[in-house]
Amino acid sequence: MKKLKLIAGRGNPSLAQKIANQLKEPLTPVQINSFANGEIYARICEKVRDDDIFIIQSTSSPVNDQLMELLITIDALKRASAGRINVVAPYLCYGRQDRKIISREPISAKLVADLICKAGANRLVSVDLHTDAIQGFFDIPVDHLVGYPQFAEYFLREKIKNLVIVAPDVGAVKKAAKLGTLLHVPLVFIDKRRGSQNFDSHSEVTTIVGEIKDKNCIIYDDMIDSGGTVCNVAQALKEKGAKQIFICATHALLSGEASTKLQNSPASKILFLDTLAIPTEKLIPKMEILSLARLLAKVIKRIHSGQSLGALFKWEEKLVAL
Ligand code: R5P
Repeated sequence: MKKLKLIAGRGNPSLAQKIANQLKEPLTPVQINSFANGEIYARICEKVRDDDIFIIQSTSSPVNDQLMELLITIDALKRASAGRINVVAPYLCYGRQDRKIISREPISAKLVADLICKAGANRLVSVDLHTDAIQGFFDIPVDHLVGYPQFAEYFLREKIKNLVIVAPDVGAVKKAAKLGTLLHVPLVFIDKRRGSQNFDSHSEVTTIVGEIKDKNCIIYDDMIDSGGTVCNVAQALKEKGAKQIFICATHALLSGEASTKLQNSPASKILFLDTLAIPTEKLIPKMEILSLARLLAKVIKRIHSGQSLGALFKWEEKLVAL
């Protein structure tokens, strides 16, 4: 059996360390530097020939640097004759550009998949890709994990009654429905419109479809970037008589003033997963970060030993029809 080795990129070192602690495996030393002009250098500091490598790297801010660092690290591993290169990218960038909506647009999610495959990766493990179809952009096996069971566990533990799940836009309905099913609570969805194409533009809540008056509402989205989407929804829910408002999102991109917007929003609690590193200055008292380290450690262990991952996701069978 090839030796399991863990490598941490600079994208999410604290998650990588937690995974290493769970697995009781050291992180393989790597030297990663940036030249004065921004070019990135990566060297693996010990032998990896024939080893089963797991590179843990999220591709969040600065997104292009972290992506490039991942590609360069894969290249270094390939040239060092690593046996198998598994990329663990809990947050994979460019997922929102997964199709052409108007003419002359790129499909950047496909380009990113091609780059990762071409660099030499043999497998991708990721969490809540923006759409399931992105799995098919990769010509290598993709283990696509989902975040909503972590949130379901939280709410079951907290025993909060009178809940509804709110999908803040049409794209979020499927995942929100799954969270709703695990919690046995109804789904509400929002008709969200953006001023222009899906690009950094102001979004508006036009219609709330479902009963939210006097309900405790969980808004569930895959990511919070500027915070505009979920904060607008939280405000609209409050105005229409919602009681407590919770916001859950897998990926805490938190660009610009997002944290301030969230702090000032009517939401009383905001839950994220640790798919990417959140700078300390972006943490606010209302936030709680749930860690995926245990799950990812189990996933890595099973991939390494050639076991099925299905056993970790028994609840998925119940939801497959959704
Ligand atoms: C959209 O399709 C995504 O699922 C998120 O709703 C969106 O990207 C969040 O962005 P923001 O926080 O900037 O509104």
